[in-house]
Amino acid sequence: MNALAEKLSEVVKEKSGVSRLTLTNFRNYAGLRLETDLCPIILTGENGSGKTNVLEAISFLTPGRGLRGARLADIKRLTPSLVTPDFEPANESFSWAVSAQILKNGETFNLGTAVQKNCRENEDDFRTFERRIVQIEGQKISSQAELGKYLSAIWVTPQMDRLFLGGTQPRRSFLDRMVYAFDLEHAKRTANFEHLYKQWYQLLKTGQADARWLLSLEEEMSALGVAIAAARRELVAKLNTFIEHEPDDVFPDIELQLDGTIEKMLDDKPAVDVEDFYRENLCRQRHSVINNDYVDGVNRTDFKVYYKKKHMPAELCSTGEQKSLLVSIILAETKCQILYKGFAPVLLLDEVTTHLDDIKRDALLMKIKNLGLQAWITSTEPTIFDVLKNDALFLHVKNNTVTTSF
Ligand SMILES: Nc1ncnc2c1ncn2[C@@H]1O[C@H](COP(=O)(O)OP(=O)(O)O)[C@@H](O)[C@H]1O
Ligand SMILES: [Mg+2]
Repeated sequence: MNALAEKLSEVVKEKSGVSRLTLTNFRNYAGLRLETDLCPIILTGENGSGKTNVLEAISFLTPGRGLRGARLADIKRLTPSLVTPDFEPANESFSWAVSAQILKNGETFNLGTAVQKNCRENEDDFRTFERRIVQIEGQKISSQAELGKYLSAIWVTPQMDRLFLGGTQPRRSFLDRMVYAFDLEHAKRTANFEHLYKQWYQLLKTGQADARWLLSLEEEMSALGVAIAAARRELVAKLNTFIEHEPDDVFPDIELQLDGTIEKMLDDKPAVDVEDFYRENLCRQRHSVINNDYVDGVNRTDFKVYYKKKHMPAELCSTGEQKSLLVSIILAETKCQILYKGFAPVLLLDEVTTHLDDIKRDALLMKIKNLGLQAWITSTEPTIFDVLKNDALFLHVKNNTVTTSF
């Protein structure tokens, strides 16, 4: 065993992952309770049987809007008939809920999230709305970011097969999610930046802006923006260094790059100077908002991936190569999380085997097994998991229930 494998197995021997999962009125599940092992879990079933929904539910136990980035209102089960009494929400003010018993390095915790309906902002406000609440050990907590201290999930979805093609937004979100797995503040920073940017944009569009207000927004955005850029640079440097020292033996060597004005300026300028530049640049670009032109900044940064050996940008690689590049990133991210966070993430791999050739598919499955992680892997094709036949829990999804298949 090499030094890296030894370090990884030292952390992973104290198991982390989901040991019990309960869904209530979540998508197609009126009620579902699963007891699981901390090993690869293969979920098979026909299209539309509910495989992705199980993975999505787990992703809601980490900060953010889950692996589909869904609207909360879309998740509540649409046909509320035949609810098994056992699974009736104890508190009917919830429209849907996910709870789980998880292990973090062998220690048990209970996490839960639910959408509370009919909330009111205050006594005098009669408008109602839905709000997501989060509980850790039965205690309501105010910040979702706290969840990240207990459970980390890394996912691959079929939508990510097109990650390297098209617009920059999905790549930026993918990158930012990787950043906040290491730096929980990053989620708050990006959310705050977005909020301020929208406010600034609206003020300029409606022409109601007062100069001092605009300047103060620009000042806040530039400070946050530089912090966002610096955190992204740190993550990319960490992954590149890791990949350079520990290249994978099957999946391609990659190099990650940030293509963004603010990130690039931090190469050779101190953060305070970049902040000044950013603030002045936002001020200079006010007319771009009015003219519907492009506004440069951290909300435009692109995340570039290169296939090193081939000197090829990911977007010019074949579909199968692009999937392999994605797997390379995910494997490096997983190992870095184990090393730097000190506990193993759960992998949520939705149809991950699509586009991989048989050798790469089997190699990926063996790597997951050897890493000793919990990985939830979906497929419509149960026969492709032979290499894990003695090492995985095989579940079958049908008629809105999940059963063990032998
Ligand atoms: N809010 C909802 N209420 C009830 N069913 C839903 C809801 N949202 C999605 N579904 C249904 O859940 C089913 C399973 O979806 P999914 O888990 O994506 O299937 P797959 O097994 O192919 O991954 C689909 O038929 C989908 O239409
Ligand atoms: Mg699916």
